Amino acid sequence: MDIAVIRLDHPPVNSLNLALRRFMVEAIDAAEANPSVRGIVLAGSAKAFSAGADVSELGTPAQLQEPILLSVLARVAHCRKPVVAAITGVALGGGLELAMNCHGRVAQADAKVGLPEIQLGLIPGSTGTQLLPRLVGVDLALDLMLAGQTRSAQSLASSGLFDAVVSTDPVAAASELARRWAEPGAAPLPVRQRPLDAARVQAQVAEHRARLTPRQRLQPAYAALLDAVQACALPFEQGAARERELFLGLLSSTPAQALRHQFKAEREASRLPQAEGAAPRAVQTVAVVGAGTMGTGIAICALDAGLQVLLLEQDADALARGQARVAEHFRSRVAAGKLSAAVAEQAQARLSTTLNWPALAQADAVIEAVYEDLGVKREVFQRIDRHARAGAVLATNTSYLDIDAIAQATTRPQDVLGLHFFSPANVMKLLEVVRGAQTAPDVLATGMALGKALKKLPVPCGNAFGFIGNRIYNAYRRQCEFMLEDGAWPEDVDRALTGMGFAMGPFAVADLSGLDIAWRMRQAQAATRDPRERYVDVLDRLCEQGRLGRKTGAGYYTYTDGRAAPGTDAVVRQLIEQASARRGITRQPLDAATICRRALLAMVNEAAWLYAEGVAARPSDIDVVLVQGYGFPRWEGGPVFWARQQDRATLQRDLQALVAASGHGHRVADLGPLLD
Ligand code: NAI
Repeated sequence: MDIAVIRLDHPPVNSLNLALRRFMVEAIDAAEANPSVRGIVLAGSAKAFSAGADVSELGTPAQLQEPILLSVLARVAHCRKPVVAAITGVALGGGLELAMNCHGRVAQADAKVGLPEIQLGLIPGSTGTQLLPRLVGVDLALDLMLAGQTRSAQSLASSGLFDAVVSTDPVAAASELARRWAEPGAAPLPVRQRPLDAARVQAQVAEHRARLTPRQRLQPAYAALLDAVQACALPFEQGAARERELFLGLLSSTPAQALRHQFKAEREASRLPQAEGAAPRAVQTVAVVGAGTMGTGIAICALDAGLQVLLLEQDADALARGQARVAEHFRSRVAAGKLSAAVAEQAQARLSTTLNWPALAQADAVIEAVYEDLGVKREVFQRIDRHARAGAVLATNTSYLDIDAIAQATTRPQDVLGLHFFSPANVMKLLEVVRGAQTAPDVLATGMALGKALKKLPVPCGNAFGFIGNRIYNAYRRQCEFMLEDGAWPEDVDRALTGMGFAMGPFAVADLSGLDIAWRMRQAQAATRDPRERYVDVLDRLCEQGRLGRKTGAGYYTYTDGRAAPGTDAVVRQLIEQASARRGITRQPLDAATICRRALLAMVNEAAWLYAEGVAARPSDIDVVLVQGYGFPRWEGGPVFWARQQDRATLQRDLQALVAASGHGHRVADLGPLLD
């Protein structure tokens, strides 16, 4: 036995917990001491060389207990016998750092590698920022680390990261390499000792720094990553010390905590307490009713998931347009090289279209995406009820309507649930899975399972106006309208919130989605609206003037060639000033901090109410919905996480003031259950 193969064996993914770290040091010590061993191969399982740090250890004392990963890596790098990594499955984060500290690396072509730490608000903290640039150059190293991207070994075959990429089990090739390098003078220079040109490093880092997006600049990990890479021009030990210092600084930072919270919350969200033990019904064929914006998006993602899809319309032209949109979608993905022509063809071959309701009988699940009108939806569900087979799951994609009122139109309300997709439905990951009063547990379980099959992030919700997301978003948007009346301009509000990291401000969003949707809903609610309610009519007045948003060239903002003017125009300002005057408000400018705080407080108050009402099963589900569906900055963790970071007494006091200013119909929620 001239080559010792050390097998990492910590299922399922060889996460580098304390026990595995101890094992590695002992195994290397033993192999080094054994005179019959000439070289060492470090190998994992078919599933994983190593997926990196143990996430459950992150931030706990065990993570920093010796041998810490850094000590293990030094042991590997300084081993007097050549160590070669045989990479299969995944080598991510600390797993890739381990491989880079070996003297050589052989990877199986389909292995996936990457340093995804940035996604958790961290940087690689165990030599990754120092070694990757030495192996693949600063540019590629930064591209990979800034994106936190995972790539196939094959796609990096010529990058310098690997000594060989092979199509079979890499242990044999790795052993061969170790054997060859055991000859005196044959081993290459250890990666740690390879020098980099300081001026070039500096220039390349500066280029990447200049290209950071505003949202990246708000997150300290991006600048820290660039600082760490800049240090790789220093001798290795100094650079590694700098990396470590930056890493430890980030570890307990609020953004890193928030990102860990989101990571855990997303995993937790797809657990369904109400359907514990209920087996989902099998779904192979999905019928989508309505081939509009949402219907075609849903059809595309069901085709991508390998399901048979039947698209049903009432209108032949609408059906043809829907079908053309699906075809165009696949064509553009093939053209962009994101999908092979063969796969696109197979996907489209699974699509059939019809104008005939009896065809619904073949579906295991029906997803309705027709106009947002209760009368229309009830009529559609009566028809679905007539034609769908017994046991089929019947879903509505309604944004606001009462699931029970829709379910009552059928003879089988137990089979009906809401599946609220977000637009564009083939892109957005969030899916609200809405439970009606009579929805059966296995129907809910089917909704969750179907969501996962469609590669969505399904979040269970109770049946209440707006479910989780739109209900909180409405409270937020209303508060932003109050701020207009109080003294802010739309651009002040939008700038403050994007400055905090929101993908877009509420008024830019309103213009983008079209003001007429909200206008129609406001008109429908007008008859029942309490006259004592604080109601800002700016949006209605804009719509009356034909300013429906981006699509008409003007809404809150004016647009030329699709680009918004930097501020609002005189017409809008006048409408806002009139609204302030009618309410007897002397307009006072609002600063960015006040705007953000008011917007967040409105969200938190609504979150506390809907959690108390059981609309959300867990507080963390609310954070998942806002981050995934509404552009809430992920590194702020969501409204609940944000509220938990605040001083409780101040929060409660500010909430009182906010609710008082919001007027009739607003009540302060008890934050206790939500935040404890
Ligand atoms: P859309 O107007 O683009 O499409 C609706 C389609 O349904 C049209 O093609 C129409 O011909 C068809 N249709 C109407 N009545 C029908 C009937 N009786 N039988 C068969 N087909 C019929 O509407 P969109 O935007 O796709 O919205 C659909 C649903 O999705 C609505 O309930 C909406 O609230 C909801 N939704 C919309 C989102 C969006 O951003 N557009 C986001 C999430 C949900």
